[in-house]
Amino acid sequence: MLGGLPAPKRNRNVLVGPETWDDAGVYRVAPNLALVQTVDFITPVVNDPYEYGRIAATNSLSDVYAMGGKPITALSVVGFPEGADLTILREMIRGGAETLRRAGVVLLGGHSVRDREIKFGFAVTGHLHPKRVITNRGARKGDLLVLTKPLGTGVLATALKRRLLDDATLRVITRQMTTLNRDAAEAMQAARASAATDVTGFGLLGHALNIARGSRVTIRVWSGAVPILPGVLDFAARGVVPGGLSANAAYVEPETRYDDAVPAPVRAALADPQTSGGLLIAAAPPRVKDLMARLARARVKAAVIGEVLARGPRPLEVTA
Ligand code: CO
Ligand code: CO
Ligand code: CO
Repeated sequence: MLGGLPAPKRNRNVLVGPETWDDAGVYRVAPNLALVQTVDFITPVVNDPYEYGRIAATNSLSDVYAMGGKPITALSVVGFPEGADLTILREMIRGGAETLRRAGVVLLGGHSVRDREIKFGFAVTGHLHPKRVITNRGARKGDLLVLTKPLGTGVLATALKRRLLDDATLRVITRQMTTLNRDAAEAMQAARASAATDVTGFGLLGHALNIARGSRVTIRVWSGAVPILPGVLDFAARGVVPGGLSANAAYVEPETRYDDAVPAPVRAALADPQTSGGLLIAAAPPRVKDLMARLARARVKAAVIGEVLARGPRPLEVTA
């Protein structure tokens, strides 16, 4: 969205700016210290305001983790309708604060405005060593791709809005969306990953495309290896999909070569906009072995879902 702005005067302390579609900006404040800064807010995805608050906070912290950083402080951003029940607002904030506390992040303040619909999120600041920044730019031919959460929260949240979701599946997605990407981020730093992003509103393929473009490579997704949440393919086959899904699919379509054998519901899942999704990590094969072992020890359910090729005719390929 910031792409149309005039190119800012180059500042050598800006390590990551808006031009690579990365998750957060990174600014070097000292030779061995860089700040990671991001802001993110979402409309309600579940009905329970406390859980919504936890999800919003987890989602906001994710962009710092996706750069390999450690979040330290946060400011809340709230939109709330005039005259609405204030216990909803209190519960949202209680949930958000609880997640920040669990992540070791200090809430410094915030800002709220009257709004027609509820919105909630955080501006988050983190830190890391300037030489350890993990961006969209570092993927190399021969790397493998790891995904740290299954896909499908967009489809299932749509099913919830249409009262089609059972309680057990609601608990599964709530738990997934409130799981911090902290352990995954620590594992990818320790294993020295070459590139990463978190999978959120543009879906797996949209975010993979950012890495492919940023790194000037082609990314091949093995769709059969991609973990998908229970019920997602059935709902997608019945047309229970969020509005953003078709926009995502249309956006990546001209950039993608699909095998004919990839079923339509699987294609839909690959474009499903995620809330508080997992990390998509590229790393050389020996490092992926180390990474997967570290993720397993941290009980992160991760899967190897594809590979990085030299840049071909299209930046994305999807095999069956
Ligand atoms: Co992101
Ligand atoms: Co984000
Ligand atoms: Co990143």
